[in-house]
Amino acid sequence: TDLDSFITGLPKAELHLHIEGSLEPELMFALARRNRVTIPYASVEEVRAAYAFGNLQDFLDIYYAGAAVLLKRQDFHDLALAYFDRAAADGVVHAEIMFDPQTHTDRGIAFAEVIEGLLSAMAEAEARHGLSSRLILSFLRHLSEEAAFATLAEAEPWLDRIAAVGLDSSEVGHPPAKFARVYAAAAAKGLRLTAHAGEEGPPAYVREALDLLHVERIDHGNRALEDAALVDRLAREGMTLTVCPLSNLKLCVVDDLAHHPIDTMLARGLRATVNSDDPAYFGGYIADNYRAVARARGLGKAELATLARNSFAGSFLPPEVIAAHI
Ligand code: HPA
Ligand code: ZN
Repeated sequence: TDLDSFITGLPKAELHLHIEGSLEPELMFALARRNRVTIPYASVEEVRAAYAFGNLQDFLDIYYAGAAVLLKRQDFHDLALAYFDRAAADGVVHAEIMFDPQTHTDRGIAFAEVIEGLLSAMAEAEARHGLSSRLILSFLRHLSEEAAFATLAEAEPWLDRIAAVGLDSSEVGHPPAKFARVYAAAAAKGLRLTAHAGEEGPPAYVREALDLLHVERIDHGNRALEDAALVDRLAREGMTLTVCPLSNLKLCVVDDLAHHPIDTMLARGLRATVNSDDPAYFGGYIADNYRAVARARGLGKAELATLARNSFAGSFLPPEVIAAHI
């Protein structure tokens, strides 16, 4: 349709994408075979059937298990290049991708294997599609502050090739405060700052991310809407929210896309963006996410263009590059 081609043709940035969450079942099987790793599924259909989640933790259990097929530099390269090919087809011209080093180093995979595979795919995506990208090193918040510090230390040789740090995994019970010192250390090394907050956690976690972590954007942020004063503050400060509609539906953050708050966010002056989070697990890439909320909430071209403009405004690109995109 006209709206479909408008969405695909809209140049956009993806700001909330876990590269491990772009592992399609077909590639999971291919890598399992290549690496002689056994996975608890007999077929691609069986894998897809397992992707029914009641909450964030249901998903995380399956997501970490799936990552077990990723062993070598080439695996990370193939994973990321498959994502960039899909993203480019959806009109993504810039992607800021998260990776979870601890998911791999805790299985004995060297940090170098992970990051060198991702970096070579990023260079290939630039050459192949003109798609620029940045890396966001995400700490697993269910693990300790000490483990996060150890991960930051392991990243030291690559700090000039990492744009930012992030915080993901099980939110409730692991408030931002737990990582305040890690974020201060990352900022001192010149890294930009983002964190998941307000996906399942309360508005207080969004406040902590702002006040204790000093983040420049909030990943998800849905539950901030429960606190009117917080919404006013996020709007006033021009804080970017990286919203993920199909993720919200699959993880039961919203009960129906017809009730998704994306247009409420825009109406309240929030710099909301649309992103895919873990597209292989949640049923769609970025254009699918734009289309799904456009249909469910009746968004028109003006609102879709605002969402795309917000994605550049909220990116970690230099100001003059952002200005050229918007
Ligand atoms: N939330 C928290 N952790 C995650 C997510 C998410 O949506 N995706 C991958 N890790
Ligand atoms: Zn996420």
